[in-house]
Amino acid sequence: MIQRFGEPQAAARWCAEQRAQGRTLGFVPTMGALHEGHLALVRRARAENDVVCVSIFVNPLQFDEKSDFERYPRDFEADAGALDAAGAQMAFTGTLAGFFSRELRADGSFDPAFLEDPGAPAQGLEGALRPGHFAGVATIVRRLFETVRPARAYFGQKDFQQTLVVRELARRLGAPPIVVCPTTRERDGLALSSRNVFLSAEERARAVAIPRALEAARARFAAGERRASELARVLRDSLAGFALDYATVRDPECWTGEEPQGELERAVALVALRLGAVRLIDNRALHTQDGAL
Ligand code: PAJ
Repeated sequence: MIQRFGEPQAAARWCAEQRAQGRTLGFVPTMGALHEGHLALVRRARAENDVVCVSIFVNPLQFDEKSDFERYPRDFEADAGALDAAGAQMAFTGTLAGFFSRELRADGSFDPAFLEDPGAPAQGLEGALRPGHFAGVATIVRRLFETVRPARAYFGQKDFQQTLVVRELARRLGAPPIVVCPTTRERDGLALSSRNVFLSAEERARAVAIPRALEAARARFAAGERRASELARVLRDSLAGFALDYATVRDPECWTGEEPQGELERAVALVALRLGAVRLIDNRALHTQDGAL
């Protein structure tokens, strides 16, 4: 049975014992409400390490909207069962005070002086639209890495800009190696997300426009189009009528806050939009057949 800890200190001791016994630790950080996308990361980690541990913590530091934080789905029991079945050996959670005993002020709020700088990959798109989001991600991910000290950490391409922020953080810290896993999708192409449960049947049906728009951009790239502006136009035309936060392209090897000008030999197309009260994001590489980077 999977080991469970409600305190990061207890989790840290378990991880230290595993390392002392010469086992490699694969680590999958999550906010719970686990779906097949998360479990795919766990199975990949299981295949590449002796033991796998998973954090489940809805991190208040990275939510720019209080209502989004409050209604974020939480079900630790269901999550622990799914993790056990997927082959994880340990799951832990914690509280803000448990993770950051020294960084909280007397009134219980997080002292911003201790926020991690998310660096250049936080420029533009998610970083511009969600102020403080990537600083909150980098701050908790650093503390999680310090708790687990994994041999490898696993992240999903679904949150492409986050993978860049985390890679930059790991580079600064000197560890761990970051493994980016492909996006798991529904049969019709919609990327799995913990927030999909909030879509009405009608919104769910409309959401398929996102993978279709990404596919339309891929088809244009495959047909020889390389101009960033044209590839982005295909995306935006395909998503006409949606409440778009952005629909754009980037060079995946060279992050820029703004859309690049000129031509791209490699490209990632990125979309964020709102369907009712739900914000959905997705991306795919345009220069690879399956969209993986
Ligand atoms: P969360 O949204 O729970 O996602 C945890 C991990 O699962 C992330 O690396 C995310 O990219 C990955 N993931 C989500 N949906 C996926 C899908 N459909 N296919 C493949 N991977 C998918 O991302 C976070 O939590 C937080 O920001 C966190 C890193 C835990 C820091 O709080």
